[in-house]
Amino acid sequence: MIINSFTQSKDFVIKNKVYFTSELLRWNSKENKRLMPWKGEKDPYKIWLSEIILQQTRVEQGVDYYNRFIATWPTITKLARAPEVKVFKMWEGLGYYARCKNLIATADFIAKNLKGKFPDTYEAILDLKGIGPYTASAISSFAYNLPHAVVDGNVSRVLSRFYGITNPIDSAEGKKIFARLAEDLLDKKQPGIYNQALMDFGATICKPQLPLCSSCPLNKKCTALINSQVGFLPVKDKKLIKKTRWFYYFVIEYKGSLYVRKRLTKDIWENLFEFVLIETNKSMTSRKLHDHPQIIKILGEAIISKSKISPVYRQELSHQSIIGQFIHIKTKKMPVLEGYSAIPVKKSYKLPFPKFITNYLAEIKQDSN
Ligand code: ADE
Repeated sequence: MIINSFTQSKDFVIKNKVYFTSELLRWNSKENKRLMPWKGEKDPYKIWLSEIILQQTRVEQGVDYYNRFIATWPTITKLARAPEVKVFKMWEGLGYYARCKNLIATADFIAKNLKGKFPDTYEAILDLKGIGPYTASAISSFAYNLPHAVVDGNVSRVLSRFYGITNPIDSAEGKKIFARLAEDLLDKKQPGIYNQALMDFGATICKPQLPLCSSCPLNKKCTALINSQVGFLPVKDKKLIKKTRWFYYFVIEYKGSLYVRKRLTKDIWENLFEFVLIETNKSMTSRKLHDHPQIIKILGEAIISKSKISPVYRQELSHQSIIGQFIHIKTKKMPVLEGYSAIPVKKSYKLPFPKFITNYLAEIKQDSN
């Protein structure tokens, strides 16, 4: 039986709630070997940080970021006092920099207005900038054992398969169904342990690809397994249409300095640094790039002592593909560039750049060694 509405499944939920919860918690205490530095953590600042990082990257990579953040700024007050550019630099590579900006704004708000004390109710946590229902549930259940169910991709997948729910997990209706079901199933006596167990279970047993059904502790009553539907669930509605953007970066070097500026428009990589950019919606030849009016205006009749074009770089973002090249130009005449700063090459490595640019910088640094 595949069911697709929460009302239809009400009896089924109640009948299987005890089985689901007790098997999950038994698995958690006996078999769950997943170790992560924030597991069992009670400090809401550290939990918040780990959750924000994990919204950007996988656990394996997130651990390093988490450890570096905590080692540098062990309290929220210390983070609030940090220069913004340093926080962005540490965030470098995680992407979606609006999250980093919110992190800074919220740390600042708590330090200044709440005397550095993280709020301790779900509602007050949810009120903070950059914190949505998922993060508020995670912080309030892990730090204060408050009864709020987390619903992330892992949790929706487990519930969709176990209960055979075919509503798309990314539809408005599906989101409501999974949120209500997760609240109904939550172990109100130990919400923190239960939430963590469910996330770990989704990440290690009920995985998106090749789930471990034969050794799964819930396999006797899993609707998807019984109906051979594991591969079809969860259902997703939205097909992602990605936009492709071509970024040609002119790395202009004059007297040992590079010209950089901060990206300030409401776009990807806001607040990060970049070189002179020519953006197009299709690829361009090296000749066309060198003859571009914007470049002629900057360099005039300057004597170019060296020009080198990089291989094609590519970076996949969630909704965009960025493709491009770097044209390194050494000039003997001071370029005409408003809004840019000349930064000595060595110092430029300390600025926060998008990964697209740091990948290039890492390569040229290696070449020059
Ligand atoms: N993904 C997001 N938050 C997590 C957590 N606390 N543990 C494991 N995976 C997660």
